[in-house]
Amino acid sequence: MDARVLYVDLEPSVAADGATILEGDDNAAYLCADVRDAEAILGSAEARRLFDLDQPLAVLFIETLLYLSDSENPAYVVRSYVDRLPSGSYVGIVHFSEDEELANGLGLFSRMFGTPPAVTLRDGDRVVEFLDGLDVEDPGVVPVPLWKPEAEGLVKNPDRVPVHAGLGRKP
Ligand SMILES: C[S@@+](CC[C@H](N)C(=O)[O-])C[C@H]1O[C@@H](n2cnc3c(N)ncnc32)[C@H](O)[C@@H]1O
Repeated sequence: MDARVLYVDLEPSVAADGATILEGDDNAAYLCADVRDAEAILGSAEARRLFDLDQPLAVLFIETLLYLSDSENPAYVVRSYVDRLPSGSYVGIVHFSEDEELANGLGLFSRMFGTPPAVTLRDGDRVVEFLDGLDVEDPGVVPVPLWKPEAEGLVKNPDRVPVHAGLGRKP
C-alpha cells in the first residue's frame, strides 16, 4: 500500500489489536489517543514519522464524532484539525443519522450491556455544519450509498440509509 495511515482509537484494546495487525507495515501505525486532542495526535511521534505535516493530508472521522456529545462541541474538534492542516487538505466525515430503528437498536444494545448508548445521532445538516469553511466535494453530504451511485441496486432505498458522509477540502 502506498498510502500512509495513522489510525487512532481511545480504547487501549482496539489500539493494541490494531497495532498487532499493522506490525511490520512501515506505512501505517495505530495510536491510542483521544480524537478531541488534535495537538497530541498530529504532534505524535507516529504522525511526524508517517507524514510531512507541511503537505496536504486527509483526516477521516469515520463513525467517531457520534461519540462526542453536542456539549463537547464536535464542530470545534474538527476545526482544531483544519486549523493545523495546510491548504489542500481534506476532512471526511461519516456519521450515523437520526433514525428511529437505529435509535431502537442502540437502546437494545444499552439494555443488553447495561450502559447508556453514549452516542449522538445527527442528520446530514449537522455534518454540513462540521465541514464549515471547507469546499464540500460532490455529491455533498449525502447518505453513504449515494457516494457510489454505480452500485445502484445493491442497497434498497439508498437515499434512506441512516448514515451520512461528506468530504471537504481546505481552500
Ligand atoms: C464505530 S467505531 C469506528 C471505528 C473506525 N473509525 C472504523 O471506521 O472502523 C467507533 C470507535 O471510536 C472509538 N472512540 C470513541 N470515542 C473516542 C474518542 N474520544 N477518541 C478516539 N476514539 C474514540 C471507540 O473506541 C470505537 O472503537
